[in-house]
Amino acid sequence: MKQQSRREFVKLSAGTLLGVAVPGRVRKLFQPNTAEVTVDVRHVLGAISPNIYGQFIEHLGRAIYGGVYDDSKRSFRPDVLEKVQQLRPPLLRYPGGTFTKIYHWKDGIGQDRPVRKNLIWGGIDNNHFGTDEFLRYAEQLGAAPFLTVNMGTGTAEEAAEWVEYCNATAGDYATKRRNNGRAQPYGVRYWGLGNEEAAKEDAGRLQNPQDYIQQAWYYAKLMKLQDPAIQLVMVGDQEGWNQQVLQALHPVCDYISLHLYARTKPGDPASLFASIAEIEANIQKLGAQIKAFTPEKVVDFSKWYRFPSRQQPVRIALDEWGIWEANGQGAYGLEMEYTWNHALGVATFLNIFQRNAAVIGLATWAQTVNVLAPIMTNEITSICQTVYYPMALYRKLCGPQSVAATATGAGAAGLDVAASTDGKTLTIALVNRNSRAAVEIKLNAKTTGQWTAHELNAASIEAKNTLAAPATNVVSYKERTLPAGAKTYAMAAHSITILQATL
Ligand code: AHR
Repeated sequence: MKQQSRREFVKLSAGTLLGVAVPGRVRKLFQPNTAEVTVDVRHVLGAISPNIYGQFIEHLGRAIYGGVYDDSKRSFRPDVLEKVQQLRPPLLRYPGGTFTKIYHWKDGIGQDRPVRKNLIWGGIDNNHFGTDEFLRYAEQLGAAPFLTVNMGTGTAEEAAEWVEYCNATAGDYATKRRNNGRAQPYGVRYWGLGNEEAAKEDAGRLQNPQDYIQQAWYYAKLMKLQDPAIQLVMVGDQEGWNQQVLQALHPVCDYISLHLYARTKPGDPASLFASIAEIEANIQKLGAQIKAFTPEKVVDFSKWYRFPSRQQPVRIALDEWGIWEANGQGAYGLEMEYTWNHALGVATFLNIFQRNAAVIGLATWAQTVNVLAPIMTNEITSICQTVYYPMALYRKLCGPQSVAATATGAGAAGLDVAASTDGKTLTIALVNRNSRAAVEIKLNAKTTGQWTAHELNAASIEAKNTLAAPATNVVSYKERTLPAGAKTYAMAAHSITILQATL
C-alpha cells in the first residue's frame, strides 16, 4: 500500500481576525493569515528526556536567602515552595553556577557552619542552606538533585567526599551524614564537573581545555570510585574546546554542558526570537559534534578503572538556559521583570528542546527564584511571572516522544511548533508570535476524539506580573474542546496553545 493512501488527513485551520465592534456587527478588517501545520506521528525525532524541565538555584543575590529559604525562621519559604512544587521540576541543579568555584560543601553541613563572604556574587553566606537543606528541598519537590563540584578552588578528593556524604552507606562522610540526621543515602545521580571552566574572568584555573581534561579525568575517577552509578556532566564551551573534551573524556562523559541565554535588542521585541533561533543552531552544532567525536557505545574500557564507562550515548546538558536582559535590578542586574513576550520566548525554548530531543539529555532553567526567575519575592509575598505559566503547562501536557511537525504558509513565519505523543495522545505545542496568524493543521494520523485546546495569553506582549500588584495575574488560561470534526482552530495573536487529541 502506498504511504499516501494510508494517510488520513485531519485539517484544522484557523484565522485570527482582527475585528472592530461597530453597532450591531463585527466588521472584518483582515483576511485570516493562515499557516498549515503538518504532524507526522510516524516520524519520531527522539525520546524527550523528562529532565528537560529542570530548574537551577544558586547562592546568588536573593535566589536562596530571601527566595527559597527564610533564614529568619531557618526554614523553606512555604509560599515559594508551593509555587516551585506547582512547576513540578524533575531535576534541580545547585549550588552554582559561578559560585561553585569558591564553594566548599563542608562549610554547609552540621551544627557549626562558618560564615563566608560570597566572593563571586557579593554579600555574606552563613551557610545555613547547605547540602542537607538542598537535598531535602529537592525531595519535597520530587526533583532529582544535580550537584556541581568545585574545580576552581576545590580538590578532587573534596568532590569525592561529597559523593560519599550524599550516596554512601559506609565511610567517614556517610557517618557524618548519619550524625547530621540523615540515615539513608540521598542517591545523587547527576554531578557536574565544574561550571563554565573556560571563562577567563572567573576564579577558575582550568581555562585551557587540556588542563580541564586532565583534572576532569582525575575528578571522575575519584568520584566514580565512591559511586560508580553517578552520571557526569562535563563542561562545554566553544567548538574547539568541545571537540577536545568530547574526544578525551567521552568514556566517562554522560553529558556535555551548554549554557545559553537569550536577549532582546532594546525596542525590538521580535529580536528575542532571533536570539532564541541562534540557540537552536548552537544546540544542533553541539549535537553534530557529539556525533562526530564520540562513539555511541564505549568499547574496551579497562576493567582496572574499577567502575563502568558511560552506558548511553553522550547527550547535551543545557544546564543553564533562560532569558537575560540588560535592564535587570538587584545583584549584577539579575532580577528581571518578564513580559508576556518573554513567556512566548520560554515556550519557544521548550519547543526547541522537544524538536532536538534526540540530543538533549537534560536542561535546567536558570534560575528559579528572584534571579533570572519565574518566581519573585519580597518580604511579604511572592508572585509567578509570565514566564512561569508556559513552563507549568508544558510540563503538565507534553508527551514523552517527539514527532516531526512543520509549519508552512503565510502565517508560518510567526509560528513555532513542536509535537509529542505518549502513543495514545497527540500533543501539538504552538507559539504564535504573530499578531494575526491563522493555523491550519494537517495530521497524517487518525484521531478518534475531539481536539482540546489549552490556551495561554495576555492582553499584550508588554503585559507583566509584578510585585507592585501581586493580586493581578495578566496571564489568562482557557481550556476548551473544539467542536466534533473541527478542522480549524482560531489561534489568538501572541498566544501559546497546546492542542491535544486521542490518536
Ligand atoms: O545564572 C547566572 C550565572 O550565569 C551563573 O552563575 C553562571 O554559570 C552563568 O554565567
